[in-house]
Amino acid sequence: MPQPAENFISLDHPPLFRRRLLRWFQQNGRDLPWRRTHDPYAIMVSEFMLQQTQVATVVPYYERWLERFPSFRALARASEAEVLHAWQGLGYYARGRNLHTAAKLVVGNFGGRLPADVTVVRQLPGVGRYTAGAIASFAFDLPEPIIDTNIARTLARLTNCKLPVDTSAGRDYLWNLAKALMPKKGARRFNSALMELGALVCLARKPRCDVCPVRLHCRADNPESLPGKRARPAVVRLTEWHGLIRQGKDVLLEQSHGRWRGMWTLPRLPAAPKHAPLLRLEFPFTHHCITLAVFSARRPSAPNDRQRWFACRALDDIPVPAPHRRALAQLLPILG
Ligand code: ADE
Repeated sequence: MPQPAENFISLDHPPLFRRRLLRWFQQNGRDLPWRRTHDPYAIMVSEFMLQQTQVATVVPYYERWLERFPSFRALARASEAEVLHAWQGLGYYARGRNLHTAAKLVVGNFGGRLPADVTVVRQLPGVGRYTAGAIASFAFDLPEPIIDTNIARTLARLTNCKLPVDTSAGRDYLWNLAKALMPKKGARRFNSALMELGALVCLARKPRCDVCPVRLHCRADNPESLPGKRARPAVVRLTEWHGLIRQGKDVLLEQSHGRWRGMWTLPRLPAAPKHAPLLRLEFPFTHHCITLAVFSARRPSAPNDRQRWFACRALDDIPVPAPHRRALAQLLPILG
């Protein structure tokens, strides 16, 4: 166990802090679908989806996912194409793939029941310290702390911590503080409440200190300036060229082996054609801003082994990443 950093300061009166926070949560916490269950599978699905996606986007995906794959067993039986198709639109497809692999491991190693043990949970693919703590506390009520973006910001402000939260010193500080604040019982409610305070009150740009239930415990001298972060790497701009290749009512697609492994995209062109693109659209990807430029292109004499013709009206049934789906949706109706 790492020891608290030297400059570690807990809050004044943790029991009173917890009582105020919990009372506020009881009255103000949102009724989110994954808060109505303790099923470890459903909690794990929600946490994987919420890793890089906002609550409002996740809710319909979460509900559809649980209808389609209601258990570890059901998900483990699905094909990769079905999983990617159900994940389509959420982005960061590694999360969907990891969830699929994790389900197979839970079925293979534990008969389809996730053990109530944070070290076992942590070993599953795609499960870091945060996700392991979230599953352990939300599903099993184990006293495991969690630090996500909202909680990091809230705790940094409460203690006026100036350490950059994306450094190991900053992270150690916050994890130690979250552990010190954790009640002996009721981790589920406590972690949810802390997360909710960050999501609804201790907002990044405009903290709502006037309605904060724990403002008497807060030492932030300038909350808007916290948390501190290291300087970010600059966004790299890239352009990628793809072809729109038609044959009657069919379109040629290519199975990606890169960023969208397993999904179907417009075929990549090795270089920019001389003519103007039919369409340009931008999308973010990690530290990149990528321009997808789509050109009309000639039919190859024979598609390569990663390429296939698909009927345009059947594209809803295969996994296509969102930027390519947007390009197809804009271009196919115009080109007839
Ligand atoms: N973000 C990540 N996990 C969450 C949860 N369980 N509730 C609300 N927002 C979240």
